[in-house]
Amino acid sequence: MIEQGSGFPGSGLPGAGLPGSGPPSGRPEAGASESAAPQGPVRRAVRTGQRQRICAAAPGPYPDPAVKAPSPEYAALLLDDFAGRDGELTAICQYSYHHLVVPDHLAWIADLLEDVAIVEMRHLELLGETIRLLGADPRFYGEDGVSWDARSVAYRDNLRLQLEADVEAERGAIAQYERHFSLIADPHIRQLLTRIIADEQLHLFLFRWALNYVR
Ligand SMILES: [Fe+2]
Ligand SMILES: [Fe+2]
Repeated sequence: MIEQGSGFPGSGLPGAGLPGSGPPSGRPEAGASESAAPQGPVRRAVRTGQRQRICAAAPGPYPDPAVKAPSPEYAALLLDDFAGRDGELTAICQYSYHHLVVPDHLAWIADLLEDVAIVEMRHLELLGETIRLLGADPRFYGEDGVSWDARSVAYRDNLRLQLEADVEAERGAIAQYERHFSLIADPHIRQLLTRIIADEQLHLFLFRWALNYVR
């Protein structure tokens, strides 16, 4: 059973109503009627071509990157979120790898991992643009100046362990963003971090939900 309300921020997000409904019914057969009634959680899903997809982004637009003034201190914090060990680049690569190795009969989880990775790519872009506005160069290293390392990726050996690692990654990301939010006074950056945290909370919920269908 899904852990209702476990870190999931409420009814305003697209994941609301998903628990207990079961996974998406899979990719429609070629030529299947597009007007066929979606089942279970797919009622709230978006459709991409012939594939039924769960929306992996929280509702609402992303703020345009903006800053009140250049700040090397704030740029350093955001570089950690960008390409530090537990940053967005690690999330993109980890979910992309997990997407590639999902067993065929769980294609909906492969789709979910891909959709979340795409949202993380958006986060990377928004953070990179903000880092530039703060006066720094958004190269792939963290606050400590150490280059991003593929060994940061939790590859793991089976889907259950992978999704557990993905849950941990989202929990860690939320904690890091909340810590950086408390250290940054710039209201523009705070608005961006708030929006990104909403996505990460949805990802945490979706990965926990998917775990219920994996032995
Ligand atoms: Fe992210
Ligand atoms: Fe995420």
